[in-house]
Amino acid sequence: MTYVARLLTGTATVLALALPAAATEYRIAVRDGAGGTQEALGKAFVAALEEQSGGKMTGKLFLNGQLGDEQDTVTAAATGTLDFSILAINNITPFSPTVGTLTLPYVILSQDDAETITQGEIGQEMVDQTIEDAGVRIIGWGYSGFRVLTNSKRPVSTVEDLKGLVIRVPKNEIMIDTYKSWGINPTPMAWGETFAALQQKVVDGQDNPYMTVYAMKFDEVQKYITNLRYIFSIEPLIVSEALFESLSDEEQQQVLEAGKAATKASAEFLRSEESKIRDELVARGMEITEPANGEKEFIELATTNVWPQFYDQIGGKGELNKVLASLGRPAVD
Ligand code: MLT
Repeated sequence: MTYVARLLTGTATVLALALPAAATEYRIAVRDGAGGTQEALGKAFVAALEEQSGGKMTGKLFLNGQLGDEQDTVTAAATGTLDFSILAINNITPFSPTVGTLTLPYVILSQDDAETITQGEIGQEMVDQTIEDAGVRIIGWGYSGFRVLTNSKRPVSTVEDLKGLVIRVPKNEIMIDTYKSWGINPTPMAWGETFAALQQKVVDGQDNPYMTVYAMKFDEVQKYITNLRYIFSIEPLIVSEALFESLSDEEQQQVLEAGKAATKASAEFLRSEESKIRDELVARGMEITEPANGEKEFIELATTNVWPQFYDQIGGKGELNKVLASLGRPAVD
């Protein structure tokens, strides 16, 4: 087991390095609570950054949104008032629409797909575009798994079952339109307000990966899970481009290498932990329902209605076709 894997699974006993007194400590915003993908990615990054820099650079994670809600941290990093942030890709899309390809429903169909796209040429193009559009640089990719639907009212297995449920979605047009394609008008809401809204029954449900449902303790306010696979959640680690540019070439390299190590650790973390977390949610009383007919109706409605609406925003149909080709799937005409 690698050092980072041991750290993530809690068997590493001490940090390998004693930090010099003059170590620079960066602030890393983490919206979710402990125990999920975001924290795991952040811990792996800090460990790798200390190792890469010989202890000259380190980072401190601020969990539970202490440094702001996800979309706000993009603005803060862009203006240089925040160093790093870990957040869901759907909360970067409003600032850099081309990463929207990663939020289009049913484009990424597995963890392998997610890793292929983000760690290859297309991922690098998205990194470059995000710097230009949003003033932040993606230096690592976290993988959280598929966004499953949760609600407090009843089991949902068909599109018809959704009718009458009030579902919170992020302020992300692609996700809003996906629910519209399934026949309901969802409620766009900032991530930080979601737990309270579920608890107070302002909304009945929401979607996020098992890892996030667990890290946010949604099992306390939600009963039913539908095992949807419409979006595979990718959670990038971003750095303020202004901060990155202020580093020496050597330090930039160390930050990038630490980001790569964190990406690798995140992929391992999801592979080893997701099913345990799912079992734990069931043990805590949640009920899992499979979508009817292999999710066929959800897939058909979303891909037919939503994809064409966003070709322009993601940079043209060609961008989607590039992604599909890299995954060995047929192009759309
Ligand atoms: C959201 O639903 O806004 C995000 O996916 C939450 C997260 O980052 O975990």
